[in-house]
Amino acid sequence: MSKNILRTKLCDMLGIEYPIILAGMGSRGKATPSKLVAAVSNAGGLGVTGGSGMEPEEIRKRIREIRGLTDKPFGVDLLLPASMADVQENWDTLMEKIGRENPEHVSFMKKLMKDLSLPEVQVERRSVMSRDFIRRQVEVCLEEKVPVFAAGLGDPSWMIPDAHAQGIKIMGLVGSVRNAVRQVKAGVDIVIAQGYEAGGHTGRIATMVLVPQVADAVNPVPVVAAGGIADGRGLAASLALGAVGVWCGTAFLVAQECEIYPVQKKQILEGRSEDFIVTRAYTGKTARDYKNEVIEAWERSGLQALPMPLQGILFQSLVESAEKFGRPELINNPAGQVAGMLKEQKPARQIIEEMIQEAVEVLRRFRREVTIAGR
Ligand SMILES: Cc1cc2nc3c(=O)[nH]c(=O)nc-3n(C[C@H](O)[C@H](O)[C@H](O)COP(=O)(O)O)c2cc1C
Repeated sequence: MSKNILRTKLCDMLGIEYPIILAGMGSRGKATPSKLVAAVSNAGGLGVTGGSGMEPEEIRKRIREIRGLTDKPFGVDLLLPASMADVQENWDTLMEKIGRENPEHVSFMKKLMKDLSLPEVQVERRSVMSRDFIRRQVEVCLEEKVPVFAAGLGDPSWMIPDAHAQGIKIMGLVGSVRNAVRQVKAGVDIVIAQGYEAGGHTGRIATMVLVPQVADAVNPVPVVAAGGIADGRGLAASLALGAVGVWCGTAFLVAQECEIYPVQKKQILEGRSEDFIVTRAYTGKTARDYKNEVIEAWERSGLQALPMPLQGILFQSLVESAEKFGRPELINNPAGQVAGMLKEQKPARQIIEEMIQEAVEVLRRFRREVTIAGR
């Protein structure tokens, strides 16, 4: 059988074969490991690694690791949240602050861990996402001249001139038309319009509604569709909505090369769409996660989430204890509604080839089954 060709303007812009991008997913490095990023790029898509939360030198190591596995283009995704730009404290001072100002939250967490039989652990101190930390993360991407940089949140305008001078293409992820216009003003080359059904941090507007509005608002800047896309039908639909490609997260969480916990893959493969709900539990920002016991307890508590990064710090002890004592089902499992249609693990190459094959069939079927008249 001859090879399928499905090219759009995105392929020419990024130097890739197929308009499919592995979404940068910052899940402690497990969701987008180097071997998955490279597998997607080697299969003709664009692999993007999620670097958010990673120490700058860890990001450099990843970039070099990916370069060792592929000579194709790839990207790095970071969160540049405006609201955290002035956090200057370190982990311990923020923990003390939570203890002082939010005793109810601390009691909730203590009781929850006791109810779940999770022992308290000494939390590993990490860098807090301060302005300086994010700058250092970005500097590594510039120094390493990554082919593509994706800003998952916030305003990338301050780093775009330097990135463009290095030949780096910039993508900005948005969940609303207003933010799409802002990102284009900031100078991004490509806008990713991410709908409500997406896994991870998400906005309030569905992909079907968001993508055409963003495409109209930022024309001629190319738009990539995200949220709820996992097969060739979703890819073909995205092109119909005015996108030039797709940015897929959940679909690749069940790739063989993805390193999330097996129980998390099982939650995705066996879960229904309605099992993936929006919560502020683990991070303080609205995120779509698999509904586990921890989220149920948080939602029942009626407590207001602390702002980012405080809520994440509050939950860190639970996450690390669950990791240490073999209870990964209690760790947050960000994934989208599209999980409901994912039924088996496959190599990343197969996921991409099947998506392309199916999209080609859908587009051909239209020619056969849809009667079109007029000029
Ligand atoms: C496990 C997980 C982690 C994510 N982490 C990030 C991140 O660090 N930065 C980011 O821009 N988007 C992140 N996202 C959102 C994805 O980039 C993407 O927009 C989303 O997965 C698309 O929707 P889908 O899951 O329905 O394919 C994450 C999503 C998931 C599922």
